[in-house]
Amino acid sequence: MSNVPILDTLNKTIKSPPPIWFMRQAGRYLPEYKEIRKLTGGFIELCLNPQMACEVTMQPIKRFNLNAAIVFSDILLVTLALGYKLKFIEGQGPVISPIETEKDITSFNEDKFHTRIKNVYETINRLKEILPKEIPVIGFAGSPWTVAAYMLEGGSSRDYTKIKIWAFTRTKSFQLLIDLLIDATIAYLDKQISAGVQIIQLFDSWAGIAPESIFRKAIIEPTKKIVKQIKSLHPSIKIIGFARGAGAMIRDYASYTGIDAVGLDSTIPLSIASELQNIIPVQGNLDPIALLVGGSALKTETNRIMQSLSSGPFIFNLGHGILPNTPVNNVIELIKQVRS
Ligand code: CP3
Repeated sequence: MSNVPILDTLNKTIKSPPPIWFMRQAGRYLPEYKEIRKLTGGFIELCLNPQMACEVTMQPIKRFNLNAAIVFSDILLVTLALGYKLKFIEGQGPVISPIETEKDITSFNEDKFHTRIKNVYETINRLKEILPKEIPVIGFAGSPWTVAAYMLEGGSSRDYTKIKIWAFTRTKSFQLLIDLLIDATIAYLDKQISAGVQIIQLFDSWAGIAPESIFRKAIIEPTKKIVKQIKSLHPSIKIIGFARGAGAMIRDYASYTGIDAVGLDSTIPLSIASELQNIIPVQGNLDPIALLVGGSALKTETNRIMQSLSSGPFIFNLGHGILPNTPVNNVIELIKQVRS
């Protein structure tokens, strides 16, 4: 036992109550976040301001005493660090200079990469100084597949057809982009760990759009490479893989990538979640809408999850990020229920 509940769970110890944190635990549902967001102007400016990003990371920790702090940043900053233009437009989301042909794929310049994103490492340094030892910092990156999806589409998309067209027909160029993102992700995570994060989460938010053959080539293989390389550089790091929408592929994702724990979205049946606990610890998977509506729906859903999963290695989380209109009181009620 380490006195760090979430690390115990990641080492397969069963904890009661389970450790708890939330994807998007810092963000627009918190009035104090909106306050700071107004002061800093743009979202990217906030992510790249170590003092402010540190403060925003700490907001949910101060309010709810969660078991981990996730560094305030975004998975798409990696595109900025690679030299692409990135903007977040109010009400629309991210806009990236799109990749149209192989010529638009840059080569990886590691020095420039770190220079552009070094403020994130500085945020982590600051967090390490102020957080108590039992609350570790979670660092993160988007998976190559999910980041490539945004790069090829030029932002969010309804159907993500472009990335699939590349994956099916422009296989050489597609692999070049995935390989670039593998290199960037390894370099980025390596530096986050050196700055002090003890846990990594890989966000594969668009895993759910990939058919099996592509899932194996463009999701399992790159994840495996990243995990292997990161673990050879930092043997004690713990890695959580979150492949949203993976469905029946979640078993192979949990078994063959080398991750230490698997994050589950809300559609994964609890019977399967509990089977997965025989392979590795699981994290999830309350529907964010249940948290938004609160009341008896929230209680019942939370109860089902606790009944099914708390007898194995388990980290309580949502199946996706907290939604902006979520009442803070619902979050308080949920934590109370999980910890009682
Ligand atoms: O608290 C935390 O979880 C840490 C910070 C964090 C953010 N984004 C902050 C954010 C993390 C871990 C992410 C991950 C992220 N970003 C993902 C993977 C998880 C998921 O949601 O599927 C993805 C796909 C992104 C890309 C992204 N960032 C989009 C599509 C958008 C626009 C939509 C939206 O929610 O506004 C963002 C913006 C974003 N990232 C915000 C925050 C707090 C809102 C920005 C604002 O304050 O205006």
